[in-house]
Amino acid sequence: MRKLFFANWKMYLSDADAEALARQFLDAALEARVDVAIAPGFTALDRVARVLRGSPVSLGAQNVFWMDGGAYTGEVSPHQLTALGTRYVILGHSERRAYLGETNDMIAKKTKAAMEAGLIPVLCVGETKEEREAGRQEAVVGEQLEIALAGARISPERPLVVAYEPRWAIGTGTPCKPEDVTAMHGHIRSVIDALLDGDALSHVRVLYGGSVDASNAESFLGLPAVDGMLVGGASARPADVRALFDLLSR
Ligand code: PGA
Repeated sequence: MRKLFFANWKMYLSDADAEALARQFLDAALEARVDVAIAPGFTALDRVARVLRGSPVSLGAQNVFWMDGGAYTGEVSPHQLTALGTRYVILGHSERRAYLGETNDMIAKKTKAAMEAGLIPVLCVGETKEEREAGRQEAVVGEQLEIALAGARISPERPLVVAYEPRWAIGTGTPCKPEDVTAMHGHIRSVIDALLDGDALSHVRVLYGGSVDASNAESFLGLPAVDGMLVGGASARPADVRALFDLLSR
């Protein structure tokens, strides 16, 4: 499986800037030795979808609701996303857990609904600084996975992406140490293997995210345990994108 470079544009870009940056991605991705996906904000989703249509760059969304329609003000359903050509959806991002009160149970419902609609979840897991200092990082991430993935059926047609994103590493300029990423990715794989049937693990990519940029991307991508990276800030700045793709094309 090729490694995956997944851009999370958060709430950073205007629709016009998102469209322009998507065009930059498109040109750069043709040379890249990795798979590429972009998750723009909802308002830019259609505009970016038009740029990416028919290209090797996949479209992602940053959230989805678990119901498929009805009176749910402000929410977006899985089929509304697939209708635009969306392939991936980020779920359980720590910013949503921290600021919007998303719980493991809510994330489990979203994961199930997304997979049923044919979306590939990019399930984010990770511990806080306090949890790591207390040595609880594996227990926390294990619980996040067990609740979100209970009863999930993973197959070649229904793959899964898990992103290990320690909260203290997101947007801080202090990424996790490569050896700690390797240890956590091993733990994530063993939890998934114990939880899910058959060869589920061979259809799961485990990404690292948290302060990845061109100065450190290679140290993560070079790790056998890392199937790719989820990049926030640096994926939304044209100069950083240029520098990242210079690396990814070598
Ligand atoms: P960052 O964010 O690259 O800006 O640290 C990563 C993420 O939250 O997905």
